[in-house]
Amino acid sequence: MPGIAIIGAQWGDEGKGKVTDLLAEHAEMIVRFQGGNNAGHTIVRDGEEFKFHLIPSGILYSEKTCVIGNGVVLDPRILLAEIDGLKRRGIDVGNLKVSANAHLIMPYHVLLDTAGEVKLGKYSIGTTRRGIGPCYADKALRIGIRVQDLLDEKILRTKIRAALAFKQQALRELSVRRRKLRREAGEEGEDSPDPRLDLHTMTEEHVSFGHRLEPHIADTARLCWDALDAGQTVVFEGAQATLLDLDHGTYPFVTSSNPIAGAATIGAGVGPTDIDEVWGVAKAYATRVGAGPFPTELEDDVGRQMLERGQEYGTTTGRERRCGWLDLVALRYAVRLNGMTALTITKLDVLKGIDPLRVAVRYRSREGALLDHFPYHQSILHGAAPEYEELPGFDADLGACRSESDLPREARDYLDFIADFVGVPIDLVGVGPGREQVVWRD
Ligand code: IMP
Repeated sequence: MPGIAIIGAQWGDEGKGKVTDLLAEHAEMIVRFQGGNNAGHTIVRDGEEFKFHLIPSGILYSEKTCVIGNGVVLDPRILLAEIDGLKRRGIDVGNLKVSANAHLIMPYHVLLDTAGEVKLGKYSIGTTRRGIGPCYADKALRIGIRVQDLLDEKILRTKIRAALAFKQQALRELSVRRRKLRREAGEEGEDSPDPRLDLHTMTEEHVSFGHRLEPHIADTARLCWDALDAGQTVVFEGAQATLLDLDHGTYPFVTSSNPIAGAATIGAGVGPTDIDEVWGVAKAYATRVGAGPFPTELEDDVGRQMLERGQEYGTTTGRERRCGWLDLVALRYAVRLNGMTALTITKLDVLKGIDPLRVAVRYRSREGALLDHFPYHQSILHGAAPEYEELPGFDADLGACRSESDLPREARDYLDFIADFVGVPIDLVGVGPGREQVVWRD
C-alpha cells in the first residue's frame, strides 16, 4: 500500500494526528496537501505533548521525510516558530521539505480574514482568523506570493506591491477602523501606518524568512514520485475534514480548501492511481467549531460530558467545540465522497457512562419528509432534524483495552452498527489520548 490518505470524516479535530503518527511509523514519507495553520494536531509521545499546526505529524521520526505540499497555504512566521520549537526540544528537522509552489499567508491576509469576519457580523463563519480564505482567494486570483518568491528579493517586492494594489480599498477601510478604535480608546499621538503593511518592511522580513527556509525548499512533487516509484509508503495527511470541504461541505461554513481525499493529488502533485487506500477518521460522537449547521448538536448534560471528558477545546484557537451525537447520515456521505477503504473511530472511551447511546440514521425535513441522504441544499440542511437509533451504552473504562476482546460487548456492538451502516470496516479504535491507547481490529 504505497499511497495512503488520512482524511477527516466529520468537521475536523477527529484525531487525525494520532492516526498519522501511528501509520507514519511504517511509512517513509508524510505529506500535507492542503490547509494551513488553521489545523492543529496534538500527539502524545511518551507522556510528552506535541502540537503542530503546519509541520506534518511524522516529524517526530528523524528518518522520515516530511513534506509540506504545494496545496498548503503557509505562514512563514508560524512555520519558523514550529521549526525553532522542535529544535529546542532536540528534534531533528533536517528532513522537512517545503514545496516551492506553496502559497504564503502574508500579514494582509490575516488582517483581511479578521476584517471579513467582523464585516459579516452575525453571519460570520467563525474562521480561525489565520488568513486562510484570503490567501486561497489570492491564489485563485493569481496574485499570490509563493515560497519560491522568498528567494528573489526583486520578484518578491514586485509581487507584494502588485498584491497590495489589489487590496487598496480593503486596507484603507482597515486603517480607518484602526484609527477609530484608537480614538475610542483615547490613544494619543500621530496616526502611523500599520507597520505590518509597509512594503519595505514586509519585503525585508520575508527575504530573511527565505534565507532561513531555503534548506527546506524543494520540488516536493518529484520527491513524492521518487518515493512512490521506489515502492515506499507515502502517507497523505489531511487537515480539516470532509464537511468543511469548500465544494462538498456545509458551504459557506467551510474552509477555503478541499480536505477530501481527491485533493491529495492536486495538493501533493501525484496522480489518482497513486492513492491506494483512504482512511477516514471519525470520533465516536461529533464535534464542530465555528458556525454552521450541525444537526445532531447537543446543548444538554450529555453534550457537556462530551466536551469535558473529551477535552473538546480547539488546538488552534482554544475555542470550545460544539458537541453532539454521531451522525451516520453525514458519515456515510463522507465515506462515499472520499472513497474510503477503512475507518478509524477515535475517543470511544469518552462515551463511558452515557446510556443509551444515540446515532442519527436519517433526517426529517421541516416539511416532514424523511431524508436518507445528506442534503445538498443549504436550507434543507439547516432545517434537518435527526432521527436516532438507540444503542446500549457501556460503563467500563476503556483506557486499558488493547484488543477487541477487551472491549465491552456494548462498545463492540456500537462499532459494528457504525461499520454496517456506512459500509466500510473499522480497522482502528482510539480508547484514550496516549499513542498506545488504541485497539486494532483485524
Ligand atoms: P478557516 O479555515 O480558518 O477559514 O475557517 C473556516 C471554518 O473551518 C471555521 O468554521 C473553522 O472553525 C473551521 N476550521 C478550520 N480549521 C479547522 C480545524 O483544523 N479543525 C476544525 N475546524 C476547523
